Amino acid sequence: MSIEAFRIVGGKKIEGILKVEGSKNASLPIFIATLLEQGIYILNNVPNLMDIRTLIKLLESLGLIIEKLDKNSYRIINNGIKNIEASYELVKKMRASFLVMGPMLANGGKARVSLPGGCAIGARPVDLHLKGFEALGADIKIDHGYVEAETKSKGLRGSKIILDFPSVGASENIIMAAVKANGVTIIENIAREPEIDDLCNFLNKMGAKISGIGTGRIEIEGVEKLTPCNYSIMPDRIVAGTFIIASIMFNGKIKVEGVEPECLESFLMKLSEMGLKYDFDSEGLFIVKSKIEDMVGTKVTTMPYPGFPTDLQSPLMTLMCLVKGNSEIKETIFENRFMHVPELNRMGANIIVEKNIAIIKGIKEFSAAKVMASDLRAGAALVLAALKSDGETIVNRIYHIDRGYEALEEKIKFIGGDISRIKEEI
Ligand code: EPZ
Repeated sequence: MSIEAFRIVGGKKIEGILKVEGSKNASLPIFIATLLEQGIYILNNVPNLMDIRTLIKLLESLGLIIEKLDKNSYRIINNGIKNIEASYELVKKMRASFLVMGPMLANGGKARVSLPGGCAIGARPVDLHLKGFEALGADIKIDHGYVEAETKSKGLRGSKIILDFPSVGASENIIMAAVKANGVTIIENIAREPEIDDLCNFLNKMGAKISGIGTGRIEIEGVEKLTPCNYSIMPDRIVAGTFIIASIMFNGKIKVEGVEPECLESFLMKLSEMGLKYDFDSEGLFIVKSKIEDMVGTKVTTMPYPGFPTDLQSPLMTLMCLVKGNSEIKETIFENRFMHVPELNRMGANIIVEKNIAIIKGIKEFSAAKVMASDLRAGAALVLAALKSDGETIVNRIYHIDRGYEALEEKIKFIGGDISRIKEEI
């Protein structure tokens, strides 16, 4: 059996512009929010990704009609939900599918959604989602791997919810359930990721009444009816961060288009601690003005926003391998998000892991090897390392990367990288 891999030959002359696409993690909940109200929506700046195609199949199975207008735009026609079950076959492919439960409950009635199951980086339970729905008055039961939820005849009622942990998905699911509830919902300790702000801005554009956006405490006054609208998705801050690391690795020969620094403050602060100097040019492109040989290691702990984002932990680790001195990364969000470490060590890195802490010693350069992606961000970290290695690297299981990075190989070719998509026998 064969699967797709990237063949990357390092050491090429890299120069040019990397353009950041729309945010995957904002697009997914916003697409799902179109379940909330019948009518026609246009979404723009949607990234062209495997996860989007997977979600579209799920939403069509629920009864939505989705037309692709161009590479990054879609028309969604909601003539009413025709099916209340989100199947295991579709939900297992992408755990964000579980977010359909909130809007389905918001419209009253029943929802039957498969439990998403775990993935490589952790068990990824949904207990916080379910506690939120129960607080809003839904009856929840688990039946043969499915969550069956039912609202009482009068629909959901507003409530005060304090999340045990600022879970991104639980925050999004509960917000979408609450926007049409009877009365006011207050959610404390809610996640503050910018993608949640984008979802709330989309919902408010539809006529929802959400206040306190981005503050960690939001108030939602339920409304009877929402109005479909058109919306343009925010840029992807994690792709932007990944491209910024590429730019640093190539001493500023890469400029990055579409960086929103206000969404990357803790990330940019940590890089500045390591010696990064940067600016924006007259066209608003992010430019690196420091050299990697002048940078030094530092310590990072991944945290909920506005702390250092777990999704940029693995790309940062690749950079940390190439700077002077030692670095340390403590991963506090997921229980198993260091699977790129043995792969980087195969490429000559010098990293040891003790529990949830990785200790990285700087090396001169990576050596090409066969490696395997374990999640989309780990895959991106390996691609970055391969571009700086001394020969031919094969990165296997690139379906992980296709989930979250739009046309990565075309973008890398465009700046001079030697990368091609091949079939690898497994
Ligand atoms: C979102 O996942 C992102 N995915 C992830 O990005 C990101 O890594 C994560 O937030 C953290 O920022 C999307 O937005 C589609 P969580 P999500 O609920 O919502 C535990 C990527 O690379 N938890 O904040 O699943 C959970 O197990 C992906 O694009 C519970 O215990 O993240 C985890 O340890 C990877 N119970 C922690 O919280 C719950 O009910 C963070 O999970 C929910 C979560």
